[in-house]
Amino acid sequence: MPKHNAKISTLKLNNLNLIMTKILAFSGSARTDSYNQKLVKIAALGAEQAGAQVTIISLADFPMPIFNQDSEAAEGIPDAAQRFKQLLIEHDGFLIASPEYNSAFSPLLKNAIDWASRRTGDEPPLLAYRGKIAGIMAASPGALGGLRGLVFLRLLLSNIGVTVLPEQHALSQAGQAFDADDGLLDESVRSTVMNLGSVLAKTIIKLKQ
Ligand SMILES: Cc1cc2nc3c(=O)[nH]c(=O)nc-3n(C[C@H](O)[C@H](O)[C@H](O)COP(=O)(O)O)c2cc1C
Repeated sequence: MPKHNAKISTLKLNNLNLIMTKILAFSGSARTDSYNQKLVKIAALGAEQAGAQVTIISLADFPMPIFNQDSEAAEGIPDAAQRFKQLLIEHDGFLIASPEYNSAFSPLLKNAIDWASRRTGDEPPLLAYRGKIAGIMAASPGALGGLRGLVFLRLLLSNIGVTVLPEQHALSQAGQAFDADDGLLDESVRSTVMNLGSVLAKTIIKLKQ
């Protein structure tokens, strides 16, 4: 590469790195030792390496009742749902891994998304979601890796204003996929999952320029 081209690339890279990108990473499982929580953490590492500031949470720390419009009207949005919604609002994009339950994504995830979709005061509709970008993935002990649930998750997120990256990953045979330190044993799978996080970070950085 000629010298002047190399200089332009470096400057451009520096500019990209100056843009602050915040990504919220979570899974649709509150299970201790959840494969999906492990998976999303690996994607989060890829996003961090690409320059994003990543917040990893577990929905286990945000216990919410099943959404009921009567209790919402009587008591408002529960504290845990409000905290989760506020985190969504404060981040530019999301990394989400969901278990597949009977071919759909988990009810825990749907419930949390539903609570955070509720409008309070004079805020714009779907404030937590519109204009955000997401990378989605799944892990399952089965052969399809939760792939069927991702079809519904993609559709749902798109319908509430989230742009979902075309890249996604469904990790099959998840029971044998991780080592004792929760790393992925297969190097090519690890690289694919980290790349999902990296693509998300880079896409948000480009969009913010
Ligand atoms: C109610 C229920 C339904 C399930 N349905 C599916 C399914 O349709 N496809 C699949 O691959 N695994 C299914 N599983 C197995 C989950 O993939 C498995 O429990 C997985 O470990 C959940 O993800 P986690 O480890 O992140 O909690 C189901 C599990 C439960 C409890």
